[in-house]
Amino acid sequence: MYNGPSRQFPADHVIFSAGEVGDCAYLVERGSVLIYLTKDETEVPLKVLGEGEVFGEMSIIDGSARSASCRTLSNTSLVVVTREQLLDRINAADPVVRLLMRALLERLRWQNDSLMGRTSDASPQNDALEKEKREALKRIELENRIANALKNDEFIPFYQPIYDLKTYEIKGCEALVRWISPEGDIIPPMLFIDILEQSTLVLRSGRQIIEKCLGDLHELMSVSENPSEFFVSINISGRQFIDPDFTTHLETQRKKLSLPAKQIKLELTERVMLGGPEALATLQKCRQLGYQLAIDDFGTGFSSLQYLASMPLTDLKIDRSFVMKMLKHDKSLSIVKSLIHMGRLLGMKLIAEGIETDEELALLRKLGVQMGQGYLFSKAVPLAEFKQLAAQSRSDAA
Ligand code: C2E
Ligand code: CMP
Ligand code: CA
Ligand code: CA
Repeated sequence: MYNGPSRQFPADHVIFSAGEVGDCAYLVERGSVLIYLTKDETEVPLKVLGEGEVFGEMSIIDGSARSASCRTLSNTSLVVVTREQLLDRINAADPVVRLLMRALLERLRWQNDSLMGRTSDASPQNDALEKEKREALKRIELENRIANALKNDEFIPFYQPIYDLKTYEIKGCEALVRWISPEGDIIPPMLFIDILEQSTLVLRSGRQIIEKCLGDLHELMSVSENPSEFFVSINISGRQFIDPDFTTHLETQRKKLSLPAKQIKLELTERVMLGGPEALATLQKCRQLGYQLAIDDFGTGFSSLQYLASMPLTDLKIDRSFVMKMLKHDKSLSIVKSLIHMGRLLGMKLIAEGIETDEELALLRKLGVQMGQGYLFSKAVPLAEFKQLAAQSRSDAA
């Protein structure tokens, strides 16, 4: 099939007929076409389409035959939209959007069939389609449960201590959100954070987490060896950084509680850069206001060294995925060493994540990493438990 930029057709040319296998869709660049059905050798017009309109997409999307025929009404120029062009986009779409689209197509096919006096079967059995429907439904259900949980205040920050790897003093902590269900189950972020981050719910949950962490900070500081240096690290998603009210909200909460900005660390991932200049401007504003900015998960996605140079970062986190492999794989160790070297050259503090064994700890200390967190020390725990842990750590040191 011809895939060039556009194809010219004279008036009254049949582009395709109902029942044929669809191989591409079209965009009307110039001229017009008629979408029609043929009943008892009579044409039943459905729609006239003009410049900028698309047709022939249904059979590509639902994999069934052409649902109607199409012919040109005048000299017409059409741009071909290939199956891949269409399907790539559809497959990248939100599963709920895909479900809605299929529902609309089913309705349209049903209407065409009834115009023809045909009773269409229920939509054809298709395992892949059924699976997609189930996934979309599960997703909507989960979104509803998340929205409810937000209303009922079920998202609670747990705190994982971050240690000075030389002195073993607790320097701060990372807030890691947990969903405490009404039955008391503790649901980890892995099961809901993606859905949260893909919807605007993350703005509301993000604000709640910030409010709770800042609300807890005085208590966290009070049990610390060095209260004026103790920091809380809060994970902030990309969407929050493009929220125009992000900084105002953060500042209002901070001032209300008379907290120093330098004791609040915002943890971001390189995905924040998808927010473009707005996100970067927010980062710069936060830095100017004195907040610390840590980059997390660096090197695990589509990392660009350019990001490290352009963002006003204070800390570099060495991701758990590198720490857990560094003693087994030379390449992971090389990455850890490069991150440490790069962090130092860029004047950033280093925090290693996911330290589980004495060997990992010893190696990170040898490599000069200043701070670390991991199950070797402690998991993320509720505020009260964190306070006990910090008190214990102080009495051990004394
Ligand atoms: P992350 O920010 O990379 O957090 C580190 C994850 O590693 C946490 O999982 C932590 O509990 C886990 N971890 C820490 N030390 C160890 C260890 O020694 N061994 C093992 N196996 N795991 C360790 P968690 O709490 O399940 O969080 C997962 C992810 O969820 C976080 O990854 C972060 O991306 C996201 N997240 C957590 N809380 C928030 C939040 O409040 N807001 C946003 N936007 N994202 C959050
Ligand atoms: P497809 O089924 O691939 O081929 C026929 C095309 O006609 C179809 O995609 C739609 O683009 C379009 N079409 C089908 N039915 C209608 C309708 N009832 N109204 C408008 N356009 C339609
Ligand atoms: Ca983090
Ligand atoms: Ca990480």
